[in-house]
Amino acid sequence: MWFAPLVLTTLLSWSLSVSATILQNGQPRDDPYPGQVSTIKLDNSWRSYDADAPEIAYKGRWDSKHISWWSAPGFKVKFSGSKLAISFGEHTSEGTLVAYRIGALDWLFSNVTADATYQFIGPGTEYEELPTDGDHVFELRVTNWGRGVQIAGVSVDVDDHLTQPPTYKKKVEIIGGSLTGGQYATYETLSSWAFVYAQGLGNVEFGITAYPGACLSDMQCYGGGVHGMIWYWHHASDPGSRAREMYDHDPEEWDVTAEQPADLVIIQMGGNDHRSPNEIPGENFYQGYIELIENIHHHWPDASIVIMTQWGFWNLKGDEYVQSVIYEEEIQRVYEHFKDRKWRFVYLFHTDGILSHNDINPKNHPTDVGHIKIASHMLQWTNLMLGWELKPRGEMQHGTLYWNNMENY
Ligand SMILES: *[C@@H]1O[C@H](CO)[C@@H](O)[C@H](O)[C@H]1NC(C)=O
Repeated sequence: MWFAPLVLTTLLSWSLSVSATILQNGQPRDDPYPGQVSTIKLDNSWRSYDADAPEIAYKGRWDSKHISWWSAPGFKVKFSGSKLAISFGEHTSEGTLVAYRIGALDWLFSNVTADATYQFIGPGTEYEELPTDGDHVFELRVTNWGRGVQIAGVSVDVDDHLTQPPTYKKKVEIIGGSLTGGQYATYETLSSWAFVYAQGLGNVEFGITAYPGACLSDMQCYGGGVHGMIWYWHHASDPGSRAREMYDHDPEEWDVTAEQPADLVIIQMGGNDHRSPNEIPGENFYQGYIELIENIHHHWPDASIVIMTQWGFWNLKGDEYVQSVIYEEEIQRVYEHFKDRKWRFVYLFHTDGILSHNDINPKNHPTDVGHIKIASHMLQWTNLMLGWELKPRGEMQHGTLYWNNMENY
């Protein structure tokens, strides 16, 4: 019955046991996590803000103890002065990888751990010198979906202060499983199509409510004891074993109406419902999808909702690879069901033909390039269909400056 947590635990311990080497096509990546920061002791040269200070603008899903969940949760703060430190609480997982940056500069990385304060800005850090005079916006994102951080506080120079960073008018929420969360991609969620897409839009707030193993169908997967996305959408923590250990079957509720509502919701689901041991019948998947959309529409009536068709395997047939599509008919029917409403708010996005067999890695998830292709098509779709401008701010996916160094063949 508790197959899901078991699987998630296995995946997690697997990911913790690997070394800090990124292998790209079998070769180690040079300096995969640049920007590692050191721990410090706070003294009276610092001014500290508690985790619940209104100046700290949390992004994505965090619970009432300021513990991060799901994919790419983060926060932004605007600070004056030239130093900044973050204190992590006891519920921070060992070695969690966080990405951080100032403004739209390239992402830097650091592993952080519980009960420690790390200095991210100031002498001895990559940001020893700040890019401009005046205040800066600092952003942090948790890259690992299986691990998380607890924010205990943010500190700046005693003569300086934090202020609330500006927020973008539009917001996007992306809902899915491991494909959306970037499992097995180079920087996990930071390399996922969902993150690349949000970075490609640039001028939006976003949350990625995605977690490996998540099902759309409620109480039908993994032998029937596991909730689906319609239930998790109203809860702060994710379906992983870390959340189970902390909250068992009773996680904190998440009020989707408490924050800025999303203008656009993108749903990519089906992979986990479809696979063994779940094999949810098409009719149940279809019904579950209708309920999920109705539920989101009820809470965010103005949101456009995009449903994606879901690729399956690429099978070698004769001299070509043939892509399969899962729940193709059901997803099409979900779209048809909402098509004739007075206002059109459900859109169908066909993923067929975007990826090829070599955009899927040996663990059956998109390669970094595969993620970029999905994101690129979705960005163009958003521009053409919804008229949104693309205003990327800095890197969309870190570490993808690939080039050829052979001039003379
Ligand atoms: C830092 O994070 C990476 C990515 O999750 C991981 O592979 C590595 O083991 C971590 N390093 C430490 C020292 O925790």
